[in-house]
Amino acid sequence: MALVSVAELLAKAEAGGYAVGAFNANNMEIVQAIAMAAEKENSPVIMQASQGAIKYAGLEYIVGLVRIAAETTHVPIALHLDHGTSFDQVVRCIRSGFSSVMYDGSQLPLEENIRITQKVIEISRPIGVSVEGELGHIGGTEDDISVDEKDAHYTDPDEALTFVRETGVDALAIGIGTAHGQYKGEPKLDFERLEKISKLVNVPIVLHGSSGVPDEAIRRAISLGVRKVNIDTNIREAFVAGARKVLEDNPAEIDPRKILGPGKEGAIELIREKIRLFGSGGKA
Ligand code: G3H
Ligand code: 13P
Ligand code: ZN
Repeated sequence: MALVSVAELLAKAEAGGYAVGAFNANNMEIVQAIAMAAEKENSPVIMQASQGAIKYAGLEYIVGLVRIAAETTHVPIALHLDHGTSFDQVVRCIRSGFSSVMYDGSQLPLEENIRITQKVIEISRPIGVSVEGELGHIGGTEDDISVDEKDAHYTDPDEALTFVRETGVDALAIGIGTAHGQYKGEPKLDFERLEKISKLVNVPIVLHGSSGVPDEAIRRAISLGVRKVNIDTNIREAFVAGARKVLEDNPAEIDPRKILGPGKEGAIELIREKIRLFGSGGKA
């Protein structure tokens, strides 16, 4: 199957009342794990490349790997830029074959965020590439953007309405208390704010930093309009746990395939569980 846009997947998710998992793809084994999990659950899926992934694997390798995953599976797959840092990077990703991009102008003043997001949409929409925008900071460490958890501020519903009206984004990432990376305690989500924003803006909402958010909170967020759930850290944990076990059991192991293979298996199981939690299983 050819790559599909995130907007197309989220429109179906909106109609069906579920969310699509957006899983960070960093290497071949993780791309394979996401594709295999999606195929097993018969689920649509989003593979996304962060700044770190682009630096590590290179744009061409990511596009090549995800294209092959899409061509060799029967489920719809989107390739999405995660936390795009500039207009130029968006252009490079679209030229390389991404079917969807995020432009993250959340650290800019609202007007500036709107202006650049509009520019991104101007070049993306005519060619069917969908655009995710971000308003309100998401705590933790996200790529090159570091936001101190205490200073991270939540999305203002009125600003969200202005942002969506002015830009026409296909999906909106918001700050309601989630953070990237491993949580120290249990995250507390501002569901009231989510409900308000979701009703006001009428576009699919994206939840970043979803690893470590309790299942019940994820279900509630989906019931209130979250349609794209971003997961990276949990995949890293599952992958490394599998690889670590091999090395603990057999410190003399030198075959990378025997170390990374169990890592991939761990990631497949984790992603399958997330797909079932998000309700996208059987919706391919
Ligand atoms: O956006 C959050 C991701 O977890 C990015 O992490 O740049 O280290 O790949 P990374
Ligand atoms: P986690 O690493 O916390 O799952 O966050 C992923 C994310 O939001 C990617 O954009
Ligand atoms: Zn994120």
